[in-house]
Amino acid sequence: MSPRHFLTLNDLSSSEFRDIIQRACELKEMQADGILHEPLKNRIMAMVFEKASTRTRVSFEAGMAQLGGHALFLSPQDTQLGRGEPIEDTARVLARMTDAIMVRTFAHEKIERMADASTVPVINALTDDYHPCQLLADMQTYFEHRGDIQGQSVCWVGDGNNMCNSFINAAALLDFELIVACPEGYEPMAELVKTNKDRVKIVRRPEEGVVGAALVATDVWASMGQEDERVRREKDFTGFEVTLELMALAKDDALFLHCLPAHRGEEVSANVIDAPDSVVWDEAENRLHAQKALMEFLMC
Ligand code: CP
Ligand code: NVA
Repeated sequence: MSPRHFLTLNDLSSSEFRDIIQRACELKEMQADGILHEPLKNRIMAMVFEKASTRTRVSFEAGMAQLGGHALFLSPQDTQLGRGEPIEDTARVLARMTDAIMVRTFAHEKIERMADASTVPVINALTDDYHPCQLLADMQTYFEHRGDIQGQSVCWVGDGNNMCNSFINAAALLDFELIVACPEGYEPMAELVKTNKDRVKIVRRPEEGVVGAALVATDVWASMGQEDERVRREKDFTGFEVTLELMALAKDDALFLHCLPAHRGEEVSANVIDAPDSVVWDEAENRLHAQKALMEFLMC
């Protein structure tokens, strides 16, 4: 039987997504209360990082340790992956020795191939197309501060990138409206927009998109792997900075989320991200709790 993978949010049902959010909140409380919970004792997770990371690496490694297990950091420079060993062979071998494989890579197709070859769960820790783990944490953050997101309007401002694609999946699963405010040529995946056309709308002006939004989210203008496009992107994204003025057009109690790392003065102004009531630090912390809930769900 093939294992349960987590390559996109669509690997979960709506109720499983909600259960993981709820479980993440419980695990957060248990951790704060010092309650030991080690369902993954003696279990091991391989973490393959082909791109840089701070939050993802630390949250998975700390989370695995807190659940009683162990996580192994693997990078292409130090493994045979960097010397051309086929990813299918790598997945097969890692699956013989570990209980789950977490992967951060470039082409999404690569993680699909690894999942096909693996006999243990494969977790997407970011590809060029999706960042589903971040959405678990983002939705947990919204739920804990504002309650259920069902029926709300959410505005994504900026690049229609991997985060934006995952927001579309979250909108479908948790039943909210998503307005994507992006410049021409920076739309999210066309196929996803088409499938979700009843709830996803593309606008060209952030000032239009944020009206009535309960949540405003953004991300860097140049993602990992797009460093060469940075100058052109800075020009193309002029006017797409999330500022206090823009936030003032959203709902009075609208939350602002950013997966981080952030560039102050580019996609977000310092006074928005560093506001005293900013929840982006909760959002970052929730990577730990949400992924613990995910690992428990996939591995127990
Ligand atoms: N948000 C996020 O995935 O951060 P890292 O790149 O630091 O893991
Ligand atoms: N869109 C960004 C997210 C970083 C967590 C990137 O892919 O670099």
